[in-house]
Amino acid sequence: MLPYSRQTIYPEDIDAVVRVLKSDWLTQGPAVHDFETALCQLTGARHAVAVANGTAALYLACRALDLSPADKGITSPMSFAASASCMVLAGAGVDFVDIEADTLCMDPGALRAYCEQKQPPAVVIPIDFAGISARLPEIWKLSRKFGFKVIEDAAHAIGSSYCYDGERFNCGQCAHSDLATFSFHPVKNITCAEGGAVTTNDPELAERVRHLANHGVEKDASRFQTRIPGRIWPYEVQDISFNFRLSDLHAALGKSQLSRLEKFKAKRAGLARIYSERLSALEQAGLLRLPVLPESCDPCLHLFVIRTGPETKITRQELFERLMEKGIRCQVHYWPIHLHPLFRKKYGFKEDDFPVAEEAASHCLSIPLFPQMSKEDAIFVADTLTEILKE
Ligand SMILES: Cc1ncc(COP(=O)(O)O)c(C=O)c1O
Repeated sequence: MLPYSRQTIYPEDIDAVVRVLKSDWLTQGPAVHDFETALCQLTGARHAVAVANGTAALYLACRALDLSPADKGITSPMSFAASASCMVLAGAGVDFVDIEADTLCMDPGALRAYCEQKQPPAVVIPIDFAGISARLPEIWKLSRKFGFKVIEDAAHAIGSSYCYDGERFNCGQCAHSDLATFSFHPVKNITCAEGGAVTTNDPELAERVRHLANHGVEKDASRFQTRIPGRIWPYEVQDISFNFRLSDLHAALGKSQLSRLEKFKAKRAGLARIYSERLSALEQAGLLRLPVLPESCDPCLHLFVIRTGPETKITRQELFERLMEKGIRCQVHYWPIHLHPLFRKKYGFKEDDFPVAEEAASHCLSIPLFPQMSKEDAIFVADTLTEILKE
């Protein structure tokens, strides 16, 4: 069975993890520091804090902004639930604005309208959907006007960049955001098995994320809030939080994978080209829609999301099942967050609240895309799709 995505592990990755296993440190040793340094070099952000997963990264970024129950955060409905639940877990309310029909990223026009008509949010979390950068410069401009913070959810986008005003910026560089977050789950562009990171250019935010990722513990004696003569325990707890640390084993895997990101990116782009070429006739016939890659973006494509078209004679569900019968396992990215039971019950969201996202969600299908796929695999997927959709 060909999955929609999976990790690509090299012998060097295994060696890197084994080296850590044989060392003195299994957690929070030199490998975590090295991985963070490599993330800064790659993204261009001044600070990187490696954490347990992408959800923890989003939660910590929200906590670092000290959100209160009076605050509201906004994200895109076209994402994984973590992009919204992080705000709730950090103590704020949550709302959404709709997406652009072509890129499936947050629509800055909808965000502007929201800010003009309602109380502006405290934080906005745009998603670099499928590896395509959200319209970060436009959202950043709105943040200056309406006074909100921006957390770029770059879970899909390590290795992606975008052009703005003649300059190139990396996803996660935080040129147009306060903080950015990554996920290194096995289906993503690189993996730590489980892992994530927060990047920022603000040293205070970085320090706050690091502090909250480690139980809210302070180890620097100069910052202790209590003076206890003769104290021999070297820390004090100053905030309520969790242990969201990344281990050295996971960090070693992540750093080793990072060294192959460019190769993975080229492989993903080559497979996407095969899909685009072989499926363009179907698109012209209205039998499917191909992803739209804006010229300003140089994506490290995480997903290849097709959509059924106006002339498609079978349902998305039938297409999914027919592909499964042929050994091709697809996935839906995403069922909109606001239509999950929690968000309906707790916040009263319902159908038609975000029609562009709902329309895309009911037609989309992520077809296989990962570096270990061969050219022949991609041709097989494209030809199978053609055969099914042309019937
Ligand atoms: C856009 C987005 N944000 C956040 C996450 C959460 O990442 P993790 O699975 O590493 O917790 C995911 C994971 O699927 C995601 O796709």
